[in-house]
Amino acid sequence: MIKSAVVPVAGHGTRLLPATKSQPKEMLPVARKPIVQYVVEELVANGIEQVLFITGRNKTSIENHFDHDPELTRALNESNKKELLEELDFKGYNDTKFFYTRQRMQKGLGDAILCGENFAGEMPFLVALGDSILGLNADSKTVANMAELFVSKRASCVIAVEEVPHAETRHYGIVRPEGKTGDSFRVVDLVEKPDSKDAPSNLAIAGRYIFSPLIFDMIRRVKPDKRGEIQVTDAIRLLCEEGKRVLAVKLPPGEKRYDIGNFPSYFETFVEFALADPVYGEKFRAVLHDILGQSKSK
Ligand code: G1P
Repeated sequence: MIKSAVVPVAGHGTRLLPATKSQPKEMLPVARKPIVQYVVEELVANGIEQVLFITGRNKTSIENHFDHDPELTRALNESNKKELLEELDFKGYNDTKFFYTRQRMQKGLGDAILCGENFAGEMPFLVALGDSILGLNADSKTVANMAELFVSKRASCVIAVEEVPHAETRHYGIVRPEGKTGDSFRVVDLVEKPDSKDAPSNLAIAGRYIFSPLIFDMIRRVKPDKRGEIQVTDAIRLLCEEGKRVLAVKLPPGEKRYDIGNFPSYFETFVEFALADPVYGEKFRAVLHDILGQSKSK
């Protein structure tokens, strides 16, 4: 099965300035945890055992977050705050191996993934974008379904996709399915951020990909786009052109991709996750209700 994940987190997060001026967007909180912790929890629950973060300058707090902090542990032990110590733990945390490397220049997602070549070696691997969480509280099983399909169909690539409004295709990589689309289907072409009139469908790449190591050669063949970036979407396109099997898995009905890369969806994600909080959710719902009631009567 798929045990290794590459998580690109090198982006500047400019769409979230000033919140991201001196901290990575992946460390912004959603309810009680930083975004990147949900991503790791989702991956661990889907069978991932080792994670390579592709980082950049200003991203060291991600390393600190997944490291043991002896001073904090001692302080909590001495003040008898056992329940807070438990907060520092999550399922699989101690068994997961974390690795870090830097993408020295911002040359696009394809270039970032290329930094994971030695880590992946000869084995297939997952790529999970660090600013997307699948499912409320990261409870998605999509990655495990993708892994099963990757193995059973001997695919070269499996992508998670979600339906988006036609008018918004220019924000996503969009796939062209072969024929009718069920829960999973073959992809024959892809376009990165097309205008809606040129979009081959409304099925957008949803931030999770499984690749065979073949992808690295394809990335090396991709020419930079207008902004000088190497897009992984173009590398997958080359896989299609070579006749390799590229498959897509639709997020199941009711499963959302929470994108934290811009303020409107960050706000939405925070509120939804806070409402679902087992301890504070109900109270927060009542407060929100009041606030909304007041704003209506203004
Ligand atoms: C990236 C990918 C795009 C994908 C999107 C959401 O774009 O290039 O194909 O649809 O993530 O997963 P970004 O949002 O980084 O511009």
